[in-house]
Amino acid sequence: MSAENNIESVLNENRSFAPPATFSEAANISSEEQYQQLWQHAKDDPAGFWGEMAENLTWFQRPESIMDGEMPNTKWFTGGKINVSYNCLDRHLETDRRNKAALIWEGEPGDTRVLRYQDLHREVCRFANVLKDMGVETGDRVTLYMPMIPELTIAMLACARIGAIHSIIFGGFSAEAVADRNNDAQARVVVTADGGWRRGKEIPLKAAVDASLDKSPTVEKVVVVRRTGGDVDMVPDRDFWWHDLMDGASADCDAVQLDSEHPLFILYTSGSTGKPKGVLHTSAGYLLGTTMTSKWVFDLKEEDTYWCTADIGWITGHSYICYGPLSNGASVVMYEGAPNWPDEGRFWEIVEKYQVSIFYTAPTAIRAFIKWGNQWPEKYDLSSLRLLGTVGEPINPEAWMWYHEVIGQQRCPIVDTWWQTETGGIMISPLPGVTPTKPGSCAKPLPGVVPDIVSEAGVSLDVNQGGLLVMKQPWPHMLRTLYGDHDRFIETYFSTIEDCYFAGDGARRDEDGYIWVMGRVDDVINVSGHRLSTMEVESSLVAHEKVAEAAVVGFPHEIKGEGICCFVTLKDDDGTDDLKAELTRHVRQQIGALATPDQIRFGASLPKTRSGKIMRRLLRDIAAGRESTQDTTTLEDFSVLAKLREDED
Ligand code: PRX
Repeated sequence: MSAENNIESVLNENRSFAPPATFSEAANISSEEQYQQLWQHAKDDPAGFWGEMAENLTWFQRPESIMDGEMPNTKWFTGGKINVSYNCLDRHLETDRRNKAALIWEGEPGDTRVLRYQDLHREVCRFANVLKDMGVETGDRVTLYMPMIPELTIAMLACARIGAIHSIIFGGFSAEAVADRNNDAQARVVVTADGGWRRGKEIPLKAAVDASLDKSPTVEKVVVVRRTGGDVDMVPDRDFWWHDLMDGASADCDAVQLDSEHPLFILYTSGSTGKPKGVLHTSAGYLLGTTMTSKWVFDLKEEDTYWCTADIGWITGHSYICYGPLSNGASVVMYEGAPNWPDEGRFWEIVEKYQVSIFYTAPTAIRAFIKWGNQWPEKYDLSSLRLLGTVGEPINPEAWMWYHEVIGQQRCPIVDTWWQTETGGIMISPLPGVTPTKPGSCAKPLPGVVPDIVSEAGVSLDVNQGGLLVMKQPWPHMLRTLYGDHDRFIETYFSTIEDCYFAGDGARRDEDGYIWVMGRVDDVINVSGHRLSTMEVESSLVAHEKVAEAAVVGFPHEIKGEGICCFVTLKDDDGTDDLKAELTRHVRQQIGALATPDQIRFGASLPKTRSGKIMRRLLRDIAAGRESTQDTTTLEDFSVLAKLREDED
């Protein structure tokens, strides 16, 4: 689809909220001049700028050069030796932070654990020794398929400590999805748990791992954390309890001195073709990016209590629950479960209980809070909050205003942070002590980020013209490749617009230079802030024996942002409600609950052009219940439209 067709801005939002003076005075970046100076420096002399910033990290050996080579193959901090786990742990032990809370964890049933930096360091060292004893070596891949429990953070940092590459799979993905990712990464070890808690029910993770292992032969060993106490099958010599292994493990484990570009993790994300992409991030650049952006955007201070509500299974959790905040020595709240368990006040209860000062969540959650009603946040004391953030999708101004008034009580700046799995860290965001915020806009690029908005021909567009959002300069925390498929990496991100990084979003820039992201221009949909490829759902549907053809599109959804609508033609069956339910189950089983279709519509055929291309825009209009503005003169068979419109749920 062409960007111009897709991008039509309907937002006309003129409100603006300046940061409170008291916030600005104390902020890590505190004036427009300071921001301008940093941004210009980074643009004109990126090596000089990032070289200075790199002083915020602790190096075993300082790099000989800061950046080498052109995008997309830029290498950062060549000659440097570093360890990410050392930066997140050991270096704090030499300071008063040694007894500071690193992780303040709350389980869904209400159990709690606090790990001070010393405790976290000890557990990470022990688990690093466990991995080594299992034969895991630098460069090996380890899959983590776990609930939101401290052991997940421990396992991540233990991998980083010995240079093993973690691949975290969100606990909502199915066994099939786990097998695919294990195979793509050729993982040797899987770390999981018996299960995790979600709305009082157990999500059986170990059972899913068992099912996945039939199809992922590279996995030799499985470590299982006992979390729920649910029944699990343990296969002798393959499966081991975490607590048994940790019992005998030494807490002495030096952090390995790794090259700056040593891979830190793979994280699979959806692209516009069927197979998920293994986004690869490396050590020094990624750590520097997440460290600096945490300082700038969240204005992290020694005394903050910081809570990001994401799951670590997504990039937000990697960068802003684990690496960025811990590298800064912050106290991080981590919560295992659902926001509405045992009731809709749970998040606000946690804010009050731990006196959270910085709160980072997603627009889809904010829309759910609005629906649940103000009585829930009003029951709790939210006066500890000083800064709010959002991420994952464009925030509608109504949700922004509610967040500002009801949660922030008009006191807290809101940082609407635009970034992606591929960018590693926040790219475009207000600076809370500097930037007047406009509801719905992610505002301005951070230092080191040089975006542009261009036409499909790559020409920079004027103010308020919608186009493709691209990056013109490399940054240290950008992805380095797609695991095992460098050609796809080049093709996906660097072939659309010459010499630029492009990962699929449309945007415009207003007269004040504020960026307004308008959503994806490719076949990726954003369901509850999570990326899903329409092709992934389509391939899952056509894998069902009764399905002949399927086309999947997103449609506006009140809570989820986008819902999933599937247009399906069948081989020889009639489209019954039972079959709809069966197909829904099938997709959940193949991909996971997050891919659950919201609508399935059967038709005798799909609307196609005479050249055989599915007319997706037309389907999007039908799914949204809109009259279509698309030119249908090329439509092959008009009768299909009436039928598809009729078949609304
Ligand atoms: O479309 C943009 C949207 O989420 C996509 C990235 O998804 P993912 O890699 O899963 O990472 C999500 C968390 C960083 C982007 O291409 N997106 C993310 N943040 C925003 C956003 N859209 C608008 N405003 C945002 N603040």
